[in-house]
Amino acid sequence: MTKGTITFTMIKPCAVKDNYIGDILSVIEKAGFKIIALKMLHLSEKKARLFYAEHQGKSFFNELVEFISSGPVVAAILEKENAVQDFRKLIGATDPKEAAEGTIRKMFAKDKGHNAIHGSDSDASAEREARFFFNELEVFL
Ligand code: TYD
Ligand code: MG
Repeated sequence: MTKGTITFTMIKPCAVKDNYIGDILSVIEKAGFKIIALKMLHLSEKKARLFYAEHQGKSFFNELVEFISSGPVVAAILEKENAVQDFRKLIGATDPKEAAEGTIRKMFAKDKGHNAIHGSDSDASAEREARFFFNELEVFL
């Protein structure tokens, strides 16, 4: 079996509230990603600010932090060949209005700010974000 690369994902509070956890995980598995770590948790505002530190200073930062800490999220590490790029393709554009047919954001997102799911944008981000949420004991390798 090919040892894949990893990416990090988080089902956002809007999709958890809308009862889309099962549907979204199903789309992810059917697309060939292996879930190697999984948990549900509620981020504090402080932790949300740290997670999204790269966006500090942007116009949407405060809203983003408030939203992400507004309810529970489902965090997961996914394994697949070419995981980061393939997963970005599977989730679709940031704004669901621009997301391609069949993408997770097209199917489950409300709007740009409440876009159902996060996906790492690079291998370095995937590593940082996976470590932010999980310790080694929680990851099945
Ligand atoms: P970004 O990293 O640019 O998007 P992506 O999640 O596709 O990698 O932005 C992080 C999140 O910030 C994005 O998922 C939703 C929110 N956001 C807004 O609310 N408004 C915006 O104009 C942008 C660019 C992002
Ligand atoms: Mg991003």
